[in-house]
Amino acid sequence: MYVLGIESSCDETAAAVVTEGRKILANVVYSQLEEHEPFGGVVPEVAARAHLDKIRPVVEKALTEAGLDVSEITAVAGVCGPGLIGGVIVGATFAKSIAMARNIPFIAVNHLEAHAISVRLTEDVQFPYLLLLASGGHCQLCVVNGIDHFEVLGKTIDDSVGESFDKVAKLLGLGYPGGPLLEKRASRGDDRRFSLPTPLCSGESCDFSFSGLKTAVLAASRKCFGEEDRTDLCASFQRTVITVLARKLNLALDICGKRNIGITCVAVAGGVAANEAIRRELRSVCASRGLRLSAPPAFLCTDNGAMVAWMGAEKLLAGQTSELNFPPRPRWPMG
Ligand code: KG4
Ligand code: ZN
Repeated sequence: MYVLGIESSCDETAAAVVTEGRKILANVVYSQLEEHEPFGGVVPEVAARAHLDKIRPVVEKALTEAGLDVSEITAVAGVCGPGLIGGVIVGATFAKSIAMARNIPFIAVNHLEAHAISVRLTEDVQFPYLLLLASGGHCQLCVVNGIDHFEVLGKTIDDSVGESFDKVAKLLGLGYPGGPLLEKRASRGDDRRFSLPTPLCSGESCDFSFSGLKTAVLAASRKCFGEEDRTDLCASFQRTVITVLARKLNLALDICGKRNIGITCVAVAGGVAANEAIRRELRSVCASRGLRLSAPPAFLCTDNGAMVAWMGAEKLLAGQTSELNFPPRPRWPMG
């Protein structure tokens, strides 16, 4: 079984081919860095046009890398949301067109669910597991009971964690894309230099809030003049994010314990899960509770086609395919 997966919901045009035996035969990602860099962030219309330009060469490259002709593809999975609607329409329509032309199944994939399930592509992770999804568009903790059964325990009430990395990077003049640049800079700084707030951390809620933290960084940055100050501010910001994520993970694990949800492990997914310092801390929280942290390799944390293809493979094996008139959805919660 060869499943082609297409992703186009934000600023990556991506296509991949996977087998039901968890082999990634191809994984091609075109990151629209050049297109958005001059604006310091993703511009939806620019993204849609870039997807339109790149979708065909990216899919063709994925097929070539996989050593397959399009006639050998078993099914096509396409992200139908949530995301920037222009890009979603481009990728979903391209995926549907291949399915229609080849008369093979089309599988509509939810981008968040694809992140959530991606951990099962590279590791033997059984349901139920606790997932921290930390990306540019979302930040949530949920119990993954099955490929279409997600119980959200908490989510952000304002900015996502990736968004806070990007905004802080921008206000400190680090450039775009913010997350990886900020992580690199933070590794050289004094993470205790600035004391920053940890919003929503005193109660028992698993919800997140990051916008106050960003504002606190902005206020602190006004008093910082030198490069060293900014490096220390990056380190202090990242340390504060880590404190929040660790606290919320502990709370979610307590809830699982109280409700007798026998989770098999903890998984992290989404672009922010590529951050090594965050992975280290989450691994240590898990270890202290006798649990394993499952974290996909960094290239599967940020947006990619392999997670979409894998979600397609899991759905196809479960007999879940979609109609060709499945609508693109800018908003589409998990489950
Ligand atoms: O999952 P993703 O590729 O796209 C969305 O679905 O949103 O996540 C992108 C987000 C961006 O906000 C980016 O800055 C962040 O993930 N990110 C990171 C790192 N790599 C990517 N944040 C912190 N540290 C990183 N190393
Ligand atoms: Zn994503």
